[in-house]
Amino acid sequence: MNEEENKDSEINRGLEGVIAAETRVGYVKGDDGKLFYRGYEITTLADQSNYEEVSYLLLYGHLPKRNELEAYSKRLRNESDLPEELFSFIRSVGAKTHPMSALRTALSYLSSFDENESVNDPEDQERIGISLIAKMPTLVGAIHRTYSGKEIIRPDKNLGYASNFFYMATGARPDPVESKIMDTSLIVHADHGMNASTFSALVTVSTMADMYSAITSAIATLKGPLHGGANERALKMIKSMGKPENVEKELKRMTENGERVMGFGHRVYKVYDPRAKILKRYAEYFAERSGNENFKTAEMIEELMINKYGERGIFPNVDFYSGMIYEALGFKPEIFTPIFATGRISGWVARTIEYSRNNRLFRPKAEYVGERGPLKYIPIQDRE
Ligand code: CMC
Repeated sequence: MNEEENKDSEINRGLEGVIAAETRVGYVKGDDGKLFYRGYEITTLADQSNYEEVSYLLLYGHLPKRNELEAYSKRLRNESDLPEELFSFIRSVGAKTHPMSALRTALSYLSSFDENESVNDPEDQERIGISLIAKMPTLVGAIHRTYSGKEIIRPDKNLGYASNFFYMATGARPDPVESKIMDTSLIVHADHGMNASTFSALVTVSTMADMYSAITSAIATLKGPLHGGANERALKMIKSMGKPENVEKELKRMTENGERVMGFGHRVYKVYDPRAKILKRYAEYFAERSGNENFKTAEMIEELMINKYGERGIFPNVDFYSGMIYEALGFKPEIFTPIFATGRISGWVARTIEYSRNNRLFRPKAEYVGERGPLKYIPIQDRE
């Protein structure tokens, strides 16, 4: 069939509703506001599990036995450090570059230290994937430190994944509550159906490119404000509104200008995002502890948005309350999306490996609406 012919098919703008692959990794039940990883509900995992276990579950399809989890955690710890050149690169970038851009380049740079970086057989995908999962907190931690004008902290191999991340990023060892909240934040971001960044990773790997390339594509795609970049902007918006009494006027202005309210709406959820529900609880906990007014302002935004747009299926998504938690934990807003990436990397790796096992090149079509031609070529000196 010719590229310009689309007689039998409608255009699915944004590929809405298109089923492009089979998966056993997880699924989103958008009408019920439920999310499952390998059949386990996100609320159960957020309450009872930890990130290493969830990462193992996504990769291998079952909850690990004790010895399996110990071996996996040990592997993550052993592979968590970075080549010195990476730290030098991150230092050289400092506060000049947005942390998501620094992360995209740093992760891609890691391939230079792997003699077999271009391979894409299942063993190498798993080897590289686990190495990248292990290194992500170290990369993001180091980027946060230099972005904040502070010294880089190397991994402490006695700490678990989430606690180590917190430690490398903030310089403090988390108390049990902080550790649990960090773990939960990473768990709720670990996977989410055929979202844009996951799809990007799959498109890349469908060309038989390697895992470094797939994850670099995913990070680049996550950066945008309609995807992961919304969390940074959501908190900035909440803060810019200031007090709850300013919300109504500001929302009216935004709506009249056709601006999107960051942290609201979702392609799949048409009810409250279950991840937002989980995170809201922790945002409230921090607000009560600090007396910070941002939470009240956020609740007012939520109330007015649901009143106005709830019927159209627009509710808070995962990015609305997460920033308030990260800020309370000591993170700068520009690092919120890299935190999202640190959680999501397990889903990216799991789905990339899964897709490769039954690979087919992604190659959709576009409906051609331009000049059909053939036009007569006019030499440059004769063009008017
Ligand atoms: N604020 C105002 N209007 C909205 C919003 C919003 N946050 N979200 C959707 N709408 C309106 C939109 O203007 C459109 O209205 P109309 O039909 O009158 O033109 C309608 O709802 C449908 O919007 P759409 O862009 O076609 O829907 P979508 O399924 O492509 O959008 C979305 C999903 C996430 C891009 C969108 O809801 C949005 O832009 N949200 C704000 C950014 C955001 O919070 N992103 C994080 C998503 S969740 C985390 C993740 O997976 O990354």
